[in-house]
Amino acid sequence: MNIKVAIFASGSGSNAENIVSYFNDKEWISIPFIISNKAEAFVHQRAKAMEIKSFSFCKKEDFENGCVLKFLKERNIDFIVLAGFLLKIPENLIDAFPNKIINIHPALLPKYGGKGMYGDRVHQAAIDAGEMETGISIHLVNEQYDQGRILFQASCPIDKQDAVLDVAKKVHELEYKYFPKVLEEYFKNGVTNKSTC
Ligand code: GAR
Repeated sequence: MNIKVAIFASGSGSNAENIVSYFNDKEWISIPFIISNKAEAFVHQRAKAMEIKSFSFCKKEDFENGCVLKFLKERNIDFIVLAGFLLKIPENLIDAFPNKIINIHPALLPKYGGKGMYGDRVHQAAIDAGEMETGISIHLVNEQYDQGRILFQASCPIDKQDAVLDVAKKVHELEYKYFPKVLEEYFKNGVTNKSTC
């Protein structure tokens, strides 16, 4: 088994780094590069430090006109992992990678998902709504924002005094702990039962 995975990331890339380092010593999987839609994203520096290639496709059209798809297909990519990637995935990619694009969302979907809901905005919305818990959802990507089949969820409390940064920290901890393991299970078996920790 030799599975090739491309990671897409738009920002800091701490999840991308965590995933690369988790799979580093596993011979059955390779992560040849990270793709970003932002040339200035910090994820490129992380990639450099990990000695892994990273590329920028800065125009939305590159994703929509098949340019990114061609790039991935030419490099025999099997799975795409969205680790803080903020563009909507176009149909050409979804059709070419059916059930092979996995996203992480920093909330307990279906709550606080959809267009414009990413990063700290999600945490702010959960705090504003008076939620006592939030968490992570790892799910397959379909044509609708954050609506693909959920593979895994885990939750954490929101305390009364928590600010956005506090919630982000708790959610990131869950992401680092579970995302690589859920990916590993999914890559191996193609399916993981939905569960809540
Ligand atoms: C993560 O918390 C991820 O769940 C979130 O962006 C953050 C990226 O952090 N993704 C979304 O909000 C997608 N809607 P990172 O760049 O440090 O990995």
